[in-house]
Amino acid sequence: MLLELCTWPEVEAYLDHSTGIILPHGSTEQHGPSGPFGTDWICAAAIARGIGERTGALVGPTIGLGANQFNLAFPGTISLRATTLMALVTDYVDSLAGQGFTRFYVLNGHGGNVAPLRAAWHDLHTDRRHPGIRTRLRSWWELPTVNQLRQELYGAHEGMHATPSEIAITQHLHPRETIDMAPAETLSAAYLRDHAGDQHDDAEAHRRRFPDGRIGSDPGLATPEQGKRLLEAAIADGVADYTAFLAET
Ligand code: NI
Repeated sequence: MLLELCTWPEVEAYLDHSTGIILPHGSTEQHGPSGPFGTDWICAAAIARGIGERTGALVGPTIGLGANQFNLAFPGTISLRATTLMALVTDYVDSLAGQGFTRFYVLNGHGGNVAPLRAAWHDLHTDRRHPGIRTRLRSWWELPTVNQLRQELYGAHEGMHATPSEIAITQHLHPRETIDMAPAETLSAAYLRDHAGDQHDDAEAHRRRFPDGRIGSDPGLATPEQGKRLLEAAIADGVADYTAFLAET
């Protein structure tokens, strides 16, 4: 069930049998020479919708903006400050928690959202306005079958940003012409460690370092067929993960 297509009596009836909701979250940022700006939220929304269809879970409006200041030197990128993101997600949860929702499952599509989301959860639980609520943050690429599949398909070519796995999902959902591009540089283990979770600094320096927007990825390997497999794996894993989250005592 998509909240935007429900009426209020339908949501009130839903709360009689479930107090869980899935919150898809992504970003609007450049995704290299072949990936659309909406990649992160398009992937998150599709996976969340699939989980909702199979479990009957209510899926809230997708948050299409994230924390991604490091991509601001690429035209079209829009970034929230971390504090804006925290305020946004807090208001989202506060609104629904006041009506009886108690389980908030964020299906995340952008690494830079993780730190602000965790900080928001920290403050929500500190404030204890809604002491019964539980929160779970899940980035789709860490779901076990998806993670295995993307390693099998792309290995080290997966990289950190504009990854072939996320681009493949967008190709499946929104077919577009592929373009040729040179193989990406291989990033060192130290680089991957030091920049995990999208820890990148100044936007102009970032563009100079990664001029076409990719970070160690080869999205030219992506195909729509792989995207279909990855999406289906993410939905299947997500169904199990969301169900376990609701059952947790
Ligand atoms: Ni992305």
